[in-house]
Amino acid sequence: LHVVHIAAEMAPVAKVGGLGDVVTGLGKTLQKKGHLVEIVLPKYDCIQYDGILNLRVLDVTVESYFDGKLFQNKIWVGTVEGLPVYFIEPHHPNKFFWRGQYYGEHDDFKRFSYFSRAALELLLQAGKKPDIIHCHDWQTAFVAPLYWELYAPKGLNSARICFTCHNFEYQGAASASELASCGLDAEQLNRPDRMQDNTSHDRVNPVKGAIVFSNIVTTVSPTYAQEVRTAEGGKGLHSTLNFHSRKFVGILNGIDTDAWNPAADNFIKVQYSANDMQGKTENKAAIQRQLGLASADDQRPLVGCITRLVPQKGVHLIKHAIYRSLEMGGQFVLLGSSPVPHIQREFEGIASQFQHHEHVRLILKYDESLSHSIFAASDMFIIPSIFEPCGLTQMIAMRYGSVPIARKTGGLNDSVFDVDDETIPRKIRNGFTFITPDEQGINSALERAFDLYKNNKENWKQLVQKDMKMDFSWDSSASQYEELYTKSLSRAKAAAS
Ligand code: ADP
Ligand code: GLC
Repeated sequence: LHVVHIAAEMAPVAKVGGLGDVVTGLGKTLQKKGHLVEIVLPKYDCIQYDGILNLRVLDVTVESYFDGKLFQNKIWVGTVEGLPVYFIEPHHPNKFFWRGQYYGEHDDFKRFSYFSRAALELLLQAGKKPDIIHCHDWQTAFVAPLYWELYAPKGLNSARICFTCHNFEYQGAASASELASCGLDAEQLNRPDRMQDNTSHDRVNPVKGAIVFSNIVTTVSPTYAQEVRTAEGGKGLHSTLNFHSRKFVGILNGIDTDAWNPAADNFIKVQYSANDMQGKTENKAAIQRQLGLASADDQRPLVGCITRLVPQKGVHLIKHAIYRSLEMGGQFVLLGSSPVPHIQREFEGIASQFQHHEHVRLILKYDESLSHSIFAASDMFIIPSIFEPCGLTQMIAMRYGSVPIARKTGGLNDSVFDVDDETIPRKIRNGFTFITPDEQGINSALERAFDLYKNNKENWKQLVQKDMKMDFSWDSSASQYEELYTKSLSRAKAAAS
């Protein structure tokens, strides 16, 4: 199959969160299975150039429509993690991707509807005939209506469209008139069975548009796929998802087991594996030195947390866990940053309170290298999310022998299984879970984790080793996407004949 991902992120060169990891991890795995996979990204000014091999400009420029005019786009091509990537650089006076950040601009709707159209224009003008165009999240959700309304009639018609929603909290809805900029017919599409937002009827909703127009709609775990089909979980889209339920499924993400491999990780001090755990202890000592924490004895577990600090992640529970871990005789290291100014300020306050503390450190920035060191150094890892479409850090933590403490929601419910839950087969029990999103809830899990760590060293060690050996690779999830793609293509063929 020829699969083209059109996305706003790709790890490690343009990553904000898990979306970037997924585009790369799924792409690499499908490529390994013999498919032709290509990626199209905006050429952000803040891209990490050192992750791109052989970056060059193509001879031809691509012309694309916006706001009634045609604009030239310079097309760069390079290789990221073995995948061919096209970067679109618009010659537009608004300098859409020269903003020093990926998202959070006042004109994001314009930036990404422009990009979605230019990406399709690239495929058309380059004469590509992909079997699958896979778009992700609201930023590239425009691809689905653009494809079926404008590009299939123009002859770019070999493909089926797959849309993956990584988080229904972000739908990108905007005033209906904004849609016309990228050439879509706002009047036609601002209808309840098309792109009209289910709650604000003068707004169009790109995610809804992608659900309606795509051939395949997925989200990133089976439990979250159930949750978003309820009024409480669907953020206004549950009725649309239920109406289109035959094409909607939840597939649990994997992790890139090459990028996240403690036995071959160049970011960490000492490499290690489940059969040779000495390195893990050395990584813990190394991070304690690096961050100026007391070197701990084997009665003081190091609890890690690496996250975007947004309400979804249970920030009040993360805060509570810092104090509770300390009270119970643990150490705590948080790496995170927040796009929400009051949350960032609040954590800056806590960070300075603990600035010289020997057992707590908060590092409030994005830092890829440090994230690897913390996964490797920590004994436990908390993910107390209020909701979590999939979550990758629980899987990465396990691969590095850090036992997850997670709230049972979304993808956490599909990947973390409580060691004390008798209803679950013993061989897949791998962490500590809790249900209620409050202090008692997280305490109940934290306390059991501390108890096992301190009082039953042998069982703790077995749990750590079991977690490290769990299979969270992309193999089985990529096969599920492969099957969806193939089925959708054969349905199209059957319908055409
Ligand atoms: P989300 O996509 O909602 O942020 P995920 O768990 O799916 O959550 O993915 C988060 C990814 O981003 C993980 O790879 C995690 O290690 C990484 N990450 C989050 N915050 C930071 C940070 N401050 N520094 C480095 N990596 C981070
Ligand atoms: C989103 C979700 C997260 C998921 C990631 C990758 O950012 O918040 O749960 O793991 O996308 O699919």
